[in-house]
Amino acid sequence: MKIGILGYGTVGSGLINVIDNNKNKRDIQIESILVRNKDKYKTHKYGDKITEDIEEVFNKDLDILVELMGGLHPAYEHIKRALENKINVVTANKDMLAEYGDKLAKIANDNNVSLKFEASVGGGIPVVKPLTESLEGNSIDSMYAILNGTTNFILSKMYDEGLSYDDVLKEAQELGFAEANPEADVEGYDAARKLSILSTLAYNRRVYWKDFYLEGISNIDMKDIAYAKKIGCKIKLVGQSKLNDKIVSGFVRPVLVDDNSLLSKVDNEYNIVVLNGDSVGEVSFVGKGAGKDPTGSAVYSDVVDIFDNRYSNIDSFTKDKIEVEKTINNECQILIRFKDPKKTQILNLIDECVKSYKVINNNDELVIMVYADSEYEINNMLCLIRDKGYCREISKLLKII
Ligand code: NDP
Ligand code: HSE
Repeated sequence: MKIGILGYGTVGSGLINVIDNNKNKRDIQIESILVRNKDKYKTHKYGDKITEDIEEVFNKDLDILVELMGGLHPAYEHIKRALENKINVVTANKDMLAEYGDKLAKIANDNNVSLKFEASVGGGIPVVKPLTESLEGNSIDSMYAILNGTTNFILSKMYDEGLSYDDVLKEAQELGFAEANPEADVEGYDAARKLSILSTLAYNRRVYWKDFYLEGISNIDMKDIAYAKKIGCKIKLVGQSKLNDKIVSGFVRPVLVDDNSLLSKVDNEYNIVVLNGDSVGEVSFVGKGAGKDPTGSAVYSDVVDIFDNRYSNIDSFTKDKIEVEKTINNECQILIRFKDPKKTQILNLIDECVKSYKVINNNDELVIMVYADSEYEINNMLCLIRDKGYCREISKLLKII
């Protein structure tokens, strides 16, 4: 089995470790490795295979092209070219699948070759294969998940060690968890892309990542963490989606999760995916969602599937887009922070507008947990408070149960 690898960074080097560790089980020949700057890799293992020229990669008689360079272009063009030339492709590139999964799946299917992407969601966690193969006998109607290692690492370190957001982000970058542009992690784009991939596979309709309600963690500060602790919760960046007949509802946002919940036990770079199937019930997948060797392990599993002729045809990406609803229209609990508040006026208004509420902090800031019939109701109330100038700034965190 001859493979070409595009990229020798975190995941590329993780894959190479796993290939080397399993040399006695599988004879996988690395023919060529594409990088941008080959001088950086002079002392690396397989230094003689490294090139800056994509033609050198395509000139080898490859069975599989493994794309681990990231970004949309030129990765898209290289993957397309491989598929059109009947070369199987393995990729960890969720940005690519979320944006062009429909086009690439069609080209792969038309050319009878595999496009595999286990590592694109949940890092080292096997979840794409269980979802598409092991859970075949189920209709999946909902899922919730922690899908980004970097943000989970940041929130965990802020909570457990009181470290600052900026310092922990730097550490996550050094550990190879973060994307080349970490904005994709902290603003929730990466988690939304992964949620869209899982939702597309689960609901067998194309779910587009930008259609989800999307909010990142860059505004979470130590006071949010302190209020969360005070009410027995942690803050997690969670993705949730649900199929309701012909519509999907879904979001990626920071939420409060109870200390006793399954999600609160998943810390640092770990991810979790919880799926709900009609036959199996709730099933969860937990493991390292980012990092060199865990992700290398997932990429390797795809390579081996192709090696063993386990061909997979992915139709879901080629289906029409499904409508996505962004608001939460059922009962909810939301923690709201009012900075520089006119307390009496705000409390009077809240009293009129929502079912019930509890004051969590009444010192410099007014912090209230409100219980309402829908988030829409709360948003309307907050608009009113803003319009009347009753405070300088408002922030809110949904609590999920
Ligand atoms: P890195 O930035 O660590 O590595 C990227 C590699 O690709 C480098 O070797 C780089 O070469 C090469 N490369 C990038 N652009 C080009 C180009 N235009 N031409 C030639 N070579 C290029 O990225 P990661 O390994 O972290 O990520 C790779 C992919 O895996 C991404 O799609 C990412 O989203 C995904 N992923 C990452 C995970 C992780 O934990 N890091 C987990 C799961 C998925 P050079 O060094 O010379 O610039
Ligand atoms: N940047 C991603 C994360 C890598 O932190 O989860 C894994 O996809």
